[in-house]
Amino acid sequence: MRDNLPRVIVLAAALAFSAASNGQADLESTSVRQDIREFQDFFMQRFPSLALSDFNNGAYSLPQSARLKTGWDMLMHIPPYEHAMAEAREKWHRESGGRSLAQCMSSHPTGNRFPYATPNGIITARQAITRCLSWLNGPSHRGNRDEVVALVAVFREQAGDKPVNVDIDDPLIRRMYFRGRTVFWSRRGQNNFSCATCHVNNAGNRLRGEVLSAALGHTTGFPLYSLSELARTGESAWISLHDQYADCYIRSGAVPPPPHHADLLALQIYQTMNDTGVTLRAPGFRL
Ligand code: HEC
Repeated sequence: MRDNLPRVIVLAAALAFSAASNGQADLESTSVRQDIREFQDFFMQRFPSLALSDFNNGAYSLPQSARLKTGWDMLMHIPPYEHAMAEAREKWHRESGGRSLAQCMSSHPTGNRFPYATPNGIITARQAITRCLSWLNGPSHRGNRDEVVALVAVFREQAGDKPVNVDIDDPLIRRMYFRGRTVFWSRRGQNNFSCATCHVNNAGNRLRGEVLSAALGHTTGFPLYSLSELARTGESAWISLHDQYADCYIRSGAVPPPPHHADLLALQIYQTMNDTGVTLRAPGFRL
């Protein structure tokens, strides 16, 4: 698993070859399935006391966080995000002129199947919700950032503990998977770290007092409701997946790509597909 970037290049060459010859689509899906299996096996072997679904709670999933997890469990008796969620759930069902967000979003698959490919490209839960908000309220009222992230949390919460299940057979999704794979394993920034340096090779180790989470399960809790984010900003506790990516670029000493950059979507797709079979647990709560 360690630094297996060269395999990406070999695989990419194999894919280019197979795209040129007919009837090889299955082979491509098989390569992705195999790649995901190897990724998951690495973590299952490294943390043998955990089942696949146990990886859905960030760093608290790991035995190295047992002490912190006790405090986490106590706070979760009355989840600190409950107030923000109640407000967002009410907005989700609110009707105006016979229309509601719930009604608009019912044409989409459940939260565990996002992102997915449409004839117009890949759509994320956040994009689907933003489009529904403009359908409801007009294009100039797409909701502010916090409102939209809380609505994404409501949508993903509705999927309960369904396992992540993105369409591996879609060619556009697979293309983004390979792009995301390269982004994940590439070293960057002053520290010359890749995502894998911290979340694969050092998962479970401490970095400045923090236990590093395993990359497996990374997408399952998002958006996160974080008390330290609340303390830092003084107003918002929500962290979206792309906010987290930007923070982690900075941790590598690198400048994050601008919002909506295709590398961020590719990372999201790569990480989501690696979480195939892990159950959702949104919103995630972080101390
Ligand atoms: C220098 C080490 C470092 C690097 C490199 C790094 N991260 Fe992180 N990341 C952290 C730390 C520390 C946290 C907070 C503790 C934790 O959850 O791991 C974190 C948290 C996360 C989380 C949230 C986990 C959760 O559920 O709470 C995700 C997702 C994530 N990182 C993804 C990435 C991705 C993708 C990259 C590459 C673009 C990356 N990280 C690069 C250190 C790093």
